[in-house]
Amino acid sequence: MRALEAFDIYRFYHVEEEETLALRGVSMYVESGEIVAVQGPSGSGKSTLLACLSGIDEPDGGYVTLMGKRITRQPEAARAAARAKSMGIMLQSGNLFDHLNVEDNIHLQMHLAGRIDMKRADELIKLVGLQHRRYARPAHISGGETARAGLAVALAAEPGVLLADEPTGEVDAETEQQILSLLSTYRENGGAVLAVTHSNAVAACADRTLHLFDGRIVDDV
Ligand SMILES: Nc1ncnc2c1ncn2[C@@H]1O[C@H](COP(=O)(O)OP(=O)(O)O)[C@@H](O)[C@H]1O
Ligand SMILES: [Mg+2]
Repeated sequence: MRALEAFDIYRFYHVEEEETLALRGVSMYVESGEIVAVQGPSGSGKSTLLACLSGIDEPDGGYVTLMGKRITRQPEAARAAARAKSMGIMLQSGNLFDHLNVEDNIHLQMHLAGRIDMKRADELIKLVGLQHRRYARPAHISGGETARAGLAVALAAEPGVLLADEPTGEVDAETEQQILSLLSTYRENGGAVLAVTHSNAVAACADRTLHLFDGRIVDDV
């Protein structure tokens, strides 16, 4: 199944007189059980693409489907509900609420998706290796732990799709391997991953890599 699909997406930014064509007709998909990497130089449109795919931003043209349902140009409440149910999002920062500990951050995400499952939360905490840090607040954990906690939050509601912006951007090689192994397990269970990444290790683990240049996909291998 095509868990996530974009049809001919355009996104323009206007700042005073200047127009930036951030996305110029991007079509792509991620199947369930597939990891797709997105690579491209700075300014090529990677973050804009993720924002449009997540429904956090609206494309100016084209549309996006999540688990077969169109999310583009739907009321914000409908988009938010679709996201909570079917999409996990791991951004470069800001994945955790500062005033909640690691475990409560995971519980909150489950609550938003309408199903709190203490046993699953426990399993996730073990899976990302944060048993000893479960009651720590984000300010008191390391960069690698923050990345793993962010991934646990993104996967808390067992979403069909995971969007990740540089999931291993700030971590050491060992944590990168742990994160890749978690992503591979998620893929084996039918999850779909789209990861913007500069890391060759992530690209090597991916089934395909999309290369963005100047708002267009120039290569899909
Ligand atoms: N909010 C914005 N307002 C104006 N221009 C923007 C905005 N966000 C991004 N851009 C421009 O759109 C292009 C694509 O940016 P972005 O998606 O952030 O690229 P990447 O993530 O690949 O570095 C760049 O030229 C960038 O300067
Ligand atoms: Mg970016």
